Amino acid sequence: MLHTTLCDLLGIEIPIIQASLGPWSTPKLTAAVSNSGAIGSLGTVLLTPGAIRAQVRRIRELTDRPFVVNFSQRSFSEDGFAAALIASVPVISFAHGDPRQLPRRAHEAGALFIQVVKTVREAREAADRGVDAIIAQGTESSGGGGTVTSLCLLPQVAQAVAPLPVIGAGGVADGRGLAVALMLGAQGVSVGTRFVASTEAGISEAWRRRIVEAESEDAVRMSCVGQSVGAIREVLPVADIVRRTVGDAVATLCGARSFVRPVGPPRTARGFIESKPETNARTATRVVARR
Ligand SMILES: Cc1cc2nc3c(=O)[nH]c(=O)nc-3n(C[C@H](O)[C@H](O)[C@H](O)COP(=O)(O)O)c2cc1C
Repeated sequence: MLHTTLCDLLGIEIPIIQASLGPWSTPKLTAAVSNSGAIGSLGTVLLTPGAIRAQVRRIRELTDRPFVVNFSQRSFSEDGFAAALIASVPVISFAHGDPRQLPRRAHEAGALFIQVVKTVREAREAADRGVDAIIAQGTESSGGGGTVTSLCLLPQVAQAVAPLPVIGAGGVADGRGLAVALMLGAQGVSVGTRFVASTEAGISEAWRRRIVEAESEDAVRMSCVGQSVGAIREVLPVADIVRRTVGDAVATLCGARSFVRPVGPPRTARGFIESKPETNARTATRVVARR
């Protein structure tokens, strides 16, 4: 099983956040993800304050676990935000803008606050605002991912705001992606497109079919899917997506040891790493002593 500081912060078992899917992140999907041990997010785009209250109530009927309510600067409603705080939601996430005083208000209401960023500068600014965790969203993501890839953004953000927990987003659709994000310094991942192709997502059958039939390059031609779309071949229940993602991440992390083959003990503390192809064609790591 995987366990990170993000699990401790959010009170969850699995370091996976189901990202907001706007109008398609229904209470059913949010609760199913939280019931799996990860954490679901309710999107508030297009929701009135009354609808936010009703959907939060519905989530609580379906799960007693923590969940996230997501807001975006692009469609921010002060009344909607206030409704979420009055409903004592456990976690707020915020995307596409400076959160200003929102983290402080969330904290006063007893909620945690997670900020979505697309650059290192945004990450530093969010840290200064007192957020509890940061989602570093690469350009591979389906919506508003900025211009920097996850591979490059994630380690830079993790270094810039340490020890604040950082969550990788954009392009993660399976356990290999989760494993890589952890290796790059993340404490978990935020996943959107993979959860669109779940049985619980509130989308049409035609859309589900298009996702599982899409090829790697099709993301640019399809709206509301990320570049991971070509890796998604099955519509699955949320519980299976989460279970497989964790299992594959653990297998990937354990398997990574096969790439490392120390050759003899390093002779001095000043040893350095030399990487060279071995006869079995696998790249091994050789520890040699500097003269
Ligand atoms: C169908 C769909 C709708 C989305 N709607 C929103 C939204 O309303 N607000 C938002 O901040 N992000 C939205 N996103 C972006 C996700 O929250 C998340 O950041 C992104 O999906 C992560 O990248 P991935 O799709 O590669 O996993 C949406 C993503 C998808 C796939």
